[in-house]
Amino acid sequence: MDFLKNYSIQYWLESCPQGYLEDTEYGHPAGESEPEALLEDPVLRQQAIDTTVQLVVGERAALAASSGLINAAPDAASKCFLATQTLDEARHVEIFTRRLFDLGVKRDELESVLADRANKNLVKFAELLLEKVDKKDFVAAVVGQNIILEGLAFGVFEMIQAANETFNPKFAHTLSGTIADERRHVGFGENRIGALIREQPEKRPEVEQLQKEMSYYMLATFADRFRSRETSYEVDRMKEQEAAPAASAATPEDTAGTWQGVKIRNLEPREMEQLLADTILKDFKERLARVGVEYQTPNRP
Ligand SMILES: [Fe+2]
Ligand SMILES: [Fe+2]
Repeated sequence: MDFLKNYSIQYWLESCPQGYLEDTEYGHPAGESEPEALLEDPVLRQQAIDTTVQLVVGERAALAASSGLINAAPDAASKCFLATQTLDEARHVEIFTRRLFDLGVKRDELESVLADRANKNLVKFAELLLEKVDKKDFVAAVVGQNIILEGLAFGVFEMIQAANETFNPKFAHTLSGTIADERRHVGFGENRIGALIREQPEKRPEVEQLQKEMSYYMLATFADRFRSRETSYEVDRMKEQEAAPAASAATPEDTAGTWQGVKIRNLEPREMEQLLADTILKDFKERLARVGVEYQTPNRP
C-alpha cells in the first residue's frame, strides 16, 4: 500500500472534513437533538451523562497520546498522520463534551463532573498508555494507542451506535463520524508498527505486557458499567422503546440496531458485556498477530 498517500494530510482533507464530515455540526446534521424521552427521564439522562463522560475521558487520553507521539515518531509520514489524528481526537473530545452540555451539564461544572464520574479503571487504562508516551517509547505507545485504545473505542462506538440507531439518531450520527476516524487510526497502527516490531524484536515482551495490563483495565471498566443497577434500568427502557409501534415502523428493513449479528437491544446487560469484551479481545488478537506480537490473555475482573 502507498503509506505516504494513505496517511497524508491531503488524503485526510478529502476523506474526512471534505468527505463524511461535510455538512455536520458537532458531528451530526444540524438541527438534530437528543430525544425528549431521554431528557425527561432522570435515570436515563444520568446514565447518558455517565456514558458520555467515559467517552470524553477516553478521547482526552487519545488526544494527549496522539499529540505527544508526533515528536517521538521516527519518520515524517508518521508525524503527518499523527498530526491529522491529533485533530480527529480533539474533535472527538469536543463533540462528546458538547453532548454533555446538550444533556444538561453546566459549562462550569464540566471538570468536576468528569472528575467525579470518570471510571477509575478507565483512568488507569489511560495512565498506562500515557506513561509510554511520556517516555517517548514509540513502539509500545503506538500499540497501546492505535491497537488497544482505538480497538476499544471502535468496538464500544459501534455497539453504542447500533443501540441508538432508531432511538437517538443524533447520537448515532455523531458516533458514525468518529467510527470512520477510528477505522483510519487502527489502520495506521497496524501498518506502521508491523515494520517497527520486525526491526526491534526486543520490544515484544514489553508490548505484550502493556497489552495484557491495558486489556485487564478495559474489562474492569466494562464490568463496572454493565453490572450496575442503572444499566439494567436503561436496558429495560430500551426494550420498552423497541416494543413500541413507532420504533418498529421506523426500521422497516429490520437490520437497524444490529451489531455482530445480534439485536443489541434484545440483550441483557451481562450479555452485552460479554459480547463487547469477546469482540474487542478477538480484534486485538487478530491485529496483534498481523504485527507480529503474541496476544496475552488478560486476567478477568
Ligand atoms: Fe477518538
Ligand atoms: Fe482515534
